Amino acid sequence: MHQDFSLKNISIEKNNHPLPKPGADVNLGFGKYFTDHIFTAHFKRNQGGWQNFQIKPYSHLSMDPAACVYHYGQALFEGLKAFRQHDGKVAIFRPEFNANRMNQGCDRLDMSPVPKELFVNAVKELVSLERDWIPTGMGTALYIRPTLVGTEGFLGVRPSDEYLFFILLSPVGSYYTSGSKSVRIWVETEEIRAAKGGLGAIKAAANYASSLHAAAKQKKNGFDQVLWLDAMTKDQIEEVGTMNVFFVLKNEIVTPALNGSILPGGIRECTIKLLKDMNLPINERPVTMTELVAAYKKGEFLEMFGTGTAAVISPVGELQYKDLTMKLNENPDSIANKLYKEFTDIQYGYKEDRYQWLTHI
Ligand code: COI
Repeated sequence: MHQDFSLKNISIEKNNHPLPKPGADVNLGFGKYFTDHIFTAHFKRNQGGWQNFQIKPYSHLSMDPAACVYHYGQALFEGLKAFRQHDGKVAIFRPEFNANRMNQGCDRLDMSPVPKELFVNAVKELVSLERDWIPTGMGTALYIRPTLVGTEGFLGVRPSDEYLFFILLSPVGSYYTSGSKSVRIWVETEEIRAAKGGLGAIKAAANYASSLHAAAKQKKNGFDQVLWLDAMTKDQIEEVGTMNVFFVLKNEIVTPALNGSILPGGIRECTIKLLKDMNLPINERPVTMTELVAAYKKGEFLEMFGTGTAAVISPVGELQYKDLTMKLNENPDSIANKLYKEFTDIQYGYKEDRYQWLTHI
């Protein structure tokens, strides 16, 4: 059956009790404030598929206690940002990328895909309604969190036949509490985030659940996040969960090749493009801790940074592997700083959007 996912099919119920917006002097942090409206859509396999496209006041969601998501974890999410550009225009960064990635996740988790047109139109319409919530300072943005969960109530183990797709918005600043300063990362050698054939390559909520224990433990020791290694050898580097990673070595820049258990990050993909643009030798290949430690001892491990929607480009100042503390170069001419400037120049409209990454609304 042909379904119409155009904007005219999204109904809007305005919130009559809008919240005060955080002032320009407020440190927004990440995910602490939410806007006045959310988008919701429902899927019912036996009742015509996707329906009920609504923008409505932000409120709690009500679900059957037997809902599949509560018991068997059918949950996927995405993260993207809308920017207030220097001339006041609003630009959303690559919404199609996130729509496609969510649907790759649907495939793996046997969830009903969200039509790309519905995903992109809903993001545009909700951001457009909430445009006054988009903060103005450099480094700030409106974070967009599309989420898909299985809602059908039953207890036999099988995929749900009903889904809720919703989008919420949050004005944000820096992801890490250290602000724009570099972060400290712990290399995790006991627990794993994902294994090949598992869920690591999709944005399943389950990947984040599996990361919480180690990250919370190391937070107490002053680390911002943990770096995950592969499940088999515990030597190959995968990712940081909240970001992909890049290493600047003496003769090349490397990032772990996508291997089936690393999330294919949008900012990772764009970073590779920008590095190529800068004529820098960027290689996607397996990277091991053995190699990094050897390079560090020879003075050939120069810089490390993470990439992600929330994290943007986050320089790593310290990498702790077992009892070795690797202190990494932080200088104003670092590649991380150049990339950060290039990304933000494009996102805030100071530089031409030469790859058509931005959707203006
Ligand atoms: C993002 O960068 O959008 C993420 O999803 C990472 C994290 C905040 C969960």
